[in-house]
Amino acid sequence: MRWLSKAIPALSLLALQALAQDSTTTSNPTSTTTVNQAYTTLLSDSLLFYEAQRSGQLPANNRVPWRHDSALQDGSDNNVNLTGGYYDAGDYLKFTLPMAYSMSIVNWGAIEYFQGYQSANQDGYLRDMVKWGSDWLIQAHPQPNVFYVGNGDVDNNYWGPDTNIPTPRPSYMVNSTAPGTDVAALGAAAFASASYLFRNRFNDSVYADTLMQHGISLFEFAETAQPQQPYTKSIPAIAEFYQTNTVQNQLVWGALWLYRATGNQTYLTKASNYFDQFKLGSVDITPMDWSDQSGGVFVLGSMLDTTTDKYKVAAERYLDALTQGQSPCSFTGGGLLWCGQSSASNSLIPAQDTALLALLYSPINSDKGSGYVKFALGQINYMLGNNPMLTPYVVGVHMNSPANPHHAGASGGTDIGNINTSPPTEEYVLYGAVVGGPGQDDLFYDVRDDWQQSEVALDYNAPFQGLVAYQLVTNASDPPYTTITQPRPAIKKPFPKWAIAVIVIILLLILVALGLLWWKRRRIAEWRHRRNQKQNW
Ligand SMILES: *[C@@H]1O[C@H](CO)[C@@H](O)[C@H](O)[C@H]1NC(C)=O
Ligand SMILES: *[C@@H]1O[C@H](CO)[C@@H](O)[C@H](O)[C@H]1NC(C)=O
Ligand SMILES: *[C@@H]1O[C@H](CO)[C@@H](O)[C@H](O)[C@H]1NC(C)=O
Ligand SMILES: *[C@@H]1O[C@H](CO)[C@@H](O)[C@H](O)[C@H]1NC(C)=O
Ligand SMILES: *[C@@H]1O[C@H](CO)[C@@H](O)[C@H](O)[C@H]1NC(C)=O
Repeated sequence: MRWLSKAIPALSLLALQALAQDSTTTSNPTSTTTVNQAYTTLLSDSLLFYEAQRSGQLPANNRVPWRHDSALQDGSDNNVNLTGGYYDAGDYLKFTLPMAYSMSIVNWGAIEYFQGYQSANQDGYLRDMVKWGSDWLIQAHPQPNVFYVGNGDVDNNYWGPDTNIPTPRPSYMVNSTAPGTDVAALGAAAFASASYLFRNRFNDSVYADTLMQHGISLFEFAETAQPQQPYTKSIPAIAEFYQTNTVQNQLVWGALWLYRATGNQTYLTKASNYFDQFKLGSVDITPMDWSDQSGGVFVLGSMLDTTTDKYKVAAERYLDALTQGQSPCSFTGGGLLWCGQSSASNSLIPAQDTALLALLYSPINSDKGSGYVKFALGQINYMLGNNPMLTPYVVGVHMNSPANPHHAGASGGTDIGNINTSPPTEEYVLYGAVVGGPGQDDLFYDVRDDWQQSEVALDYNAPFQGLVAYQLVTNASDPPYTTITQPRPAIKKPFPKWAIAVIVIILLLILVALGLLWWKRRRIAEWRHRRNQKQNW
């Protein structure tokens, strides 16, 4: 009951904020006689992708026929029930940090653009999607100061269906003696954003209260367990997968979401103090992803804290640079935002996350907002077909869609040595999955073992859902791929640089050998000549 009484001021305050935002961006959801069918399908398929990532015992209404109950022993090594949740990517590992991050981004997009889900009739599936992830986070947080962070070094060489996943699957925890500040703060943000969504959009205050209590408790753990440190310091087995190296932006991110979920001013003050203490306003500009939520902090802080303009200053510095392709980013020839190494390993992540932040911020400063929206629509259109490959980078929506997402279960293959060709055509279509994306040359090879371009993951689809929901809210016209009738241009993978170097070296060696041979022959010829001359003489 304590929770209920606390929730009421939060609810009314935030309802006002929601109203204020809604009036700037939305049309009336009840009068949507025509909703865009392509965006409706994209939203529905993206949710279906998350369904295909479900681990544990699947419910009777599972819509993905090739998925089975799996990993039913998870947590047994520590006597906790860690079955359920979502597999991270194309393998069968579960990682709390990127999963919690993805949940918070899905939740944020859903909170702001809920009418998009409603008009597409996807709000029920959204609810199931968020609950499936949040229920697992609850299981992963069995005590105030214990948080399970996933599996690490299980057999990463397994490539096959979900019916034969290798065991054992060790589960790792952070706790008071082995803290993980980043993962705890991100977990708190996931709980708090889900709590807000369930309370204010699904009208489910019972579940919202449970989520809020976990968020409060986990944030307290993040703040109090000493030393404050990235969780991979405690769990080196996960360092090769998801290592953030920071705790600062995560603490502010967590505090802001807790303020939003609880309405408790203490969290807004904490966020503000941390923001100053860590000098977040002047950090190097980095595109947002699972490892860094600074951009999210700037935009969310601008929405929530009306007592200061420091978040807005930071948000505009950030968005001005990124939306104009300034350092550390630029644009590809085809117009995709390109941010160095972070784009090289999955180009659609910086592009989508920046686009989502640009849209979320746009109503806050209408002068700059139109430019931010223009940038975001450009990135959305690029990823949905307006690119040199004529390819929507979403599986299963068009003949040019990626056909070879890096996903063991969907591929139907069992031979890790022959991922690309066994079988030649993927057995199942992984509907709705966003792939890593094209290279800096805008080229996309659609090859299964090319994880940079073809990998899929929870965090690739998280901003996508917000972008699509926005398009539904604004009743956007058809995405570019709907009018593409030409096949994707055929391209061949260029020789890798090392192969070219080897060929050049071999050619040089052959030349040297030929030269030596020629030189030796001349010497012999000369010698013979001299000898003949001597004899004749
Ligand atoms: C959405 O846009 C289409 C035209 O693209 C229009 O026919 C339809 O009435 C619009 N729907 C709403 C709800 O505004
Ligand atoms: C473990 O948790 C899952 C998911 O919440 C649930 O379906 C299952 O019944 C639980 N198993 C046990 C043994 O409690
Ligand atoms: C705390 O976490 C560390 C790292 O996972 C683990 O080695 C240790 O056993 C845990 N402590 C307790 C009391 O469970
Ligand atoms: C939640 O309650 C509000 C106010 O009573 C109502 O307008 C809205 O339709 C409800 N939403 C859902 C998803 O039930
Ligand atoms: C607000 O949060 C702080 C920190 O968790 C807590 O000590 C305080 O009791 C909360 N205030 C209310 C009104 O719940």
